[in-house]
Amino acid sequence: MITIVISSFKGGTAKTSSVLHIGAALAKFHKKQVLLIDFDSQANLSTGLGVGCDCLDTTVPVLQGEKNISEVIQKTSVPGLHLIPGNTYLDGVERTSPIMSDPYNHERLRKSLRPLDFDYCIIDVPPSLSWLTQSAYFASDFSLLAITPEPYSVLALHRLAKFHTMISEHHPIKLAGILLSLWDPRTATNKVFTEGIDELYPNMLFNTRVRRDVSVSRSILQGKCVFDAYPKSRVVEDYKNLTAEVLKKCSPLKTIKKLVKSHE
Ligand SMILES: Nc1ncnc2c1ncn2[C@@H]1O[C@H](COP(=O)(O)OP(=O)(O)OP(=O)(O)O)[C@@H](O)[C@H]1O
Ligand SMILES: [Mg+2]
Repeated sequence: MITIVISSFKGGTAKTSSVLHIGAALAKFHKKQVLLIDFDSQANLSTGLGVGCDCLDTTVPVLQGEKNISEVIQKTSVPGLHLIPGNTYLDGVERTSPIMSDPYNHERLRKSLRPLDFDYCIIDVPPSLSWLTQSAYFASDFSLLAITPEPYSVLALHRLAKFHTMISEHHPIKLAGILLSLWDPRTATNKVFTEGIDELYPNMLFNTRVRRDVSVSRSILQGKCVFDAYPKSRVVEDYKNLTAEVLKKCSPLKTIKKLVKSHE
């Protein structure tokens, strides 16, 4: 199983929308078995998939050692796409027992994923460098950094890239790419923005930019992905292209190479 975390150190950079749509595209168009983990107390991913934010079968009892991970996995309306929902109890879960007394508690998520046999697992995290984000990084093979075309987003990217480097000194995680959403092709500052990112992080930006499209928020109201709710919307094409790029960057071969390298 290849595990991917999508993160940013800024709110509203389309992390949750990216997790949902890359996951749904892998299941729908590439026939992969996919598990999405809502690891954010906002539980927006769960809401977006029509599950709601008050489900008690989340990673919380799993991390606390009270439930087996297979007991909290749900099927979604998309064949092949599964979800472990989130809820508000994720907030501060690291301060509950027996997690608090475990000095290696940031490895609990990674260990709990070990028995699973999906093709891909994608984790949605909060917009912070909190314990939840740290645990998701320790559980992942690849990370994708989510940004939007604005200055605060670049500053946040810089801090998150440092966080990535820090974790990668202890755990073999590879930065697979930077994904740009809420893109408006007509904005005058686009070129300056993308050239700036390219200069700081050469060859890391995905070619596909996910355009701003109201069908993303509209489909949340239906608890569906845009592929099912608005199949003719322009963002469908963007998420399909982006997913094809993600598949190339996050391949099993790349994880094997990484594993070998970490043992050299
Ligand atoms: N391509 C898009 N076009 C238009 N709206 C979008 C697009 N992608 C996301 N949105 C909207 O932007 C808002 C933020 O998106 P999302 O929740 O995915 O971001 P996030 O980074 O997960 O936020 P948070 O940091 O709060 O977790 C949502 O209302 C979502 O519907
Ligand atoms: Mg989110």
